[in-house]
Formats: sequence, structure tokens, C-alpha cells
Amino acid sequence: MSVRVKSPEEIELMKEAGRILALTHDELRKALKPGMTTLDVDRLGESVIRDFHCIPSFLNYNGYPASICVSLNDEVVHGIPSADRVIKEGDLVSLDAGVIYKGYHSDSARSYVVGENVEAKRLVDVTRQSFFEGIKYARAGNHLRDIARGIQQYTESHGYSVVRLLSGHGIGTKLHEEPVILNYVTWRRGVKLKPGMTLAIEPMINQGEFDVVWLDDDWTVCTCDGSLSAHYENTVLITEGEPVILSSADGIEL
Ligand code: MF3
Ligand code: CO
Repeated sequence: MSVRVKSPEEIELMKEAGRILALTHDELRKALKPGMTTLDVDRLGESVIRDFHCIPSFLNYNGYPASICVSLNDEVVHGIPSADRVIKEGDLVSLDAGVIYKGYHSDSARSYVVGENVEAKRLVDVTRQSFFEGIKYARAGNHLRDIARGIQQYTESHGYSVVRLLSGHGIGTKLHEEPVILNYVTWRRGVKLKPGMTLAIEPMINQGEFDVVWLDDDWTVCTCDGSLSAHYENTVLITEGEPVILSSADGIEL
């Protein structure tokens, strides 16, 4: 098991990939409204990414047929955009996107509530915060399990559950690199963090039980119990001090 540490030059390229990705999410957030189809979201996302002369990394990844994963309500991740799926008032919408800039990847996800839905909003807020509770421990010398513990304890203290079957990952010249980054604690402490590691940390949080099921489209992952699910992800750089969120841009909310 080897996790490659990135050079300062590589990190600069990942920062630019991440900046473009943050701006892409911001465009999607502004456009999101009832009546839009999930395919509209994908089309817009792809065109923003291409306008920045980047490649949407999800398109054709293991055969995935779109640029943006759009997952609604009880869909956890990897929802396939479709002209038949109309976004309605009160929907919980999770958007996952990835870009490649000069050979370097960035990957991030955001969840939103369209209009009013108090239950969904609470889940979205806890999911986002669970990421920040986790990265408090994303420091050189700590282990991956320290991040997982931060995510899991915060999530469970709010009565929600951490999806077990999916995880985060290292990222760099490939979308998925070593290590696997669990969002829950096991007996393994995981890799020791070193400055220069670049990690996609992505809690997927269910309102009910943590079990998930794959749909027959081979991609969409749903909660088994039909409860809501939210997803939040950033590409993060480990440093000697505070972690740096690479999938961010000045003036754009995280
Ligand atoms: N962010 C997702 C992940 O890390 C990427 C989905 S890959 C795709 O697993 F093929 F579904 F696009
Ligand atoms: Co990811």
C-alpha cells in the first residue's frame, strides 16, 4: 500500500482544478429550481466544465453516462441524469462532480434542498458539518481513522447514520487513488497522514438505517429503508498544519 505525496507543482494544478470545480458547483447551485430535470443539471454542469477547458472526469468513467451525478431524496449517490426526472419543490438534491485540469483531478459534492423541507435541510446541514468535524483531524501524524471518528460521532449524535458500503479516496492524476477513506471507525487505524497527500473525503449520511441498495441501472445507490440521504465532499490537501480544501474558490461558499 503506497499513497503518493504530491509535489508543490502538482498541488498548484490540483488547486486550479478545484477552483474550477467550485465555480461549477456555484453555477449549478444558482440554477437549481423546481421544474428542472436532472438532465438539465448535467448539461449545464458539463458546459461550465468545458467552458473552462476542463474534462468532466465522471463522463464514461467505468461506463458512467454523464458528467454530474444527480441523486434525489432517498438516492445516496451516482444518480443518472434523465430528462424524465423533474426536480420538485422540497426535493433533496445531491450533486457530485469531477474535473480534470492539465491531467489533475478534483472531486466534490454538495447537497441542497430545493424550496422548503425542514427535515431534509437538517440532514443536509449535518452532512456538511460532519465533513468539517472529520477534517479537524486531517493533520500530518494522525491516521485516517481519526477523520472517520470525527465524522461518525458527530453524525450519530444527531441521530443519523453513516453509509458503510461507499467511501472516499485518494485523488491526483487519477480520480480514485489509494487510500480508501472510510467514514466510520473500524479496527484498522488506516494510513498515517503526511503533508502532500491529497484526499477526497466524502461522507454519505442517511436519515434512517445505513444500508443501501443498488438499482438495476447499475449505478444509482438508494437507502434500503427509503429514508433521505445527503452527500458532501471536498478534495483536501494534508499539510504540516491545517488541511487545505483544494475544491474551493475565493468568494464561493463551501
Ligand atoms: N465522487 C464519486 C466517487 O468518488 C465519483 C463517481 S464516479 C462516476 O465515487 F462514475 F459515478 F461518475
Ligand atoms: Co469522490
